[in-house]
Amino acid sequence: MAGKVITVAQQKGGAGKTTIAANLAVGLTRAGASVALLDTDPQGSLGRWFMARRDDGIEDMEFSTASAWGVGYECDKLKKANDFVILDTPPKVDADLRPALRISDLVIVPVATSQVDVWAVESVLDLVERENRDALVVLNRFKAGTRVGQDVAAAIAALDVTLAETTLGNRVVYAETLGLGRGVQERGRGAAQDEVDRLVAEIRRKLG
Ligand SMILES: Nc1ncnc2c1ncn2[C@@H]1O[C@H](COP(=O)(O)OP(=O)(O)OP(=O)(O)O)[C@@H](O)[C@H]1O
Ligand SMILES: [Mg+2]
Repeated sequence: MAGKVITVAQQKGGAGKTTIAANLAVGLTRAGASVALLDTDPQGSLGRWFMARRDDGIEDMEFSTASAWGVGYECDKLKKANDFVILDTPPKVDADLRPALRISDLVIVPVATSQVDVWAVESVLDLVERENRDALVVLNRFKAGTRVGQDVAAAIAALDVTLAETTLGNRVVYAETLGLGRGVQERGRGAAQDEVDRLVAEIRRKLG
């Protein structure tokens, strides 16, 4: 098996990298795929999420950590045994991010609804382009029907990058479930569950 590698990257802290990594992992697992998580962020938030999950007896995915430079070796091992490897990265864009980008089939770039996030997006997109990879920008904490939402969507549309059709709303259930080691899909049905379903389907289509 040679699994697909999805890296979540964005320089801006708090844009939703870990939230998206965790929810993609749960969404893909529920869709029947095998998933491994690889955390390269020394903050270790995805690892905390995974451990909270494990403490509750849920053992439905693999988890590993790697340094910025050890990521290729670790990822190769995980790829052999899983349909998807999801990489979470620290909130910075520098040479350390290159090894992760190099091994990615797709780079998800979350942009929370603020101009500051838009400013931060260009450096990661530059690096993705230099590594000849595909990026998919996902608007997170999106506030449909607001001025700031429109402005951010327009600013991203003006960049030469693929914007995901699916946006993720600003919903408490994302924060609540993240702290409990769960994905929103594990909290019944509603708007958050629908949008994660759609994002998972969109990513699977993109990865063929
Ligand atoms: N769509 C959303 N709706 C509501 N809260 C959200 C949403 N996305 C993220 N959050 C919350 O925002 C905070 C930051 O999210 P998260 O930790 O995923 O960002 P990050 O990009 O991984 O941050 P860091 O750069 O520090 O690693 C968390 O408390 C998370 O629960
Ligand atoms: Mg994070």
